[in-house]
Amino acid sequence: MEFFIDTGDVEEIKTAAKWGLINGVTTNPSLIAKSGRKQADVIKEISEIIDGPISAEVIATDVDGMLKEASELAKIHDNVVIKLPLTEAGITVCKMLSDKGIKTNVTLCFSPNQALLAAKNGATYISPFIGRIDDIGHDGMALIEEIRTIYDNYGFQTQILAASVRHSTHVRDAAIVGADVATMPLNVIQKLFKHPLTDIGLETFLKDHQKSL
Ligand code: G3P
Repeated sequence: MEFFIDTGDVEEIKTAAKWGLINGVTTNPSLIAKSGRKQADVIKEISEIIDGPISAEVIATDVDGMLKEASELAKIHDNVVIKLPLTEAGITVCKMLSDKGIKTNVTLCFSPNQALLAAKNGATYISPFIGRIDDIGHDGMALIEEIRTIYDNYGFQTQILAASVRHSTHVRDAAIVGADVATMPLNVIQKLFKHPLTDIGLETFLKDHQKSL
């Protein structure tokens, strides 16, 4: 399973990059707005830190506008993946970009049928938002499982990128049901290291070591 960090904060990316666990980065317009910087500047700086896919999202909602933005974003770095919303225009542009060999991440996916459309049009990644589905009282992880079954039934190569990951249980369950990638905020990645028995065990080992000196 690949790990992406979901942030527009370059300092967070630097922190996570040190662990050697991060394969890529996802951003979205809300995360870029939080950074207070221009998207192009943020993406360029990220490309100097992480050598892996970096998702940058279009803002336009029409085909021509999306294509124009996609071509600008793709110029920033070869690792840029064009993030497109799961709309008629987004799915149309997904096919156009895939045909040209440009990588895409179809985002805001909330149903298996939406994921099927993205795969049929050659999306590199599909981003089901598990946390937001849980938020409305439905089962986000069931969606990942259903998409896994559909993609495996037909041999689709589109990678399932579990997004809107809020806690470590989401990561564990996404790994169990076979998501290809999980994109997570820094605080969730940090929690993956933690177990109270590790802390207690280490404390005991260090105390015992002192006795043996
Ligand atoms: O990048 C998309 C996604 O991960 C957003 O997560 O927590 O805003 O639902 P969240």
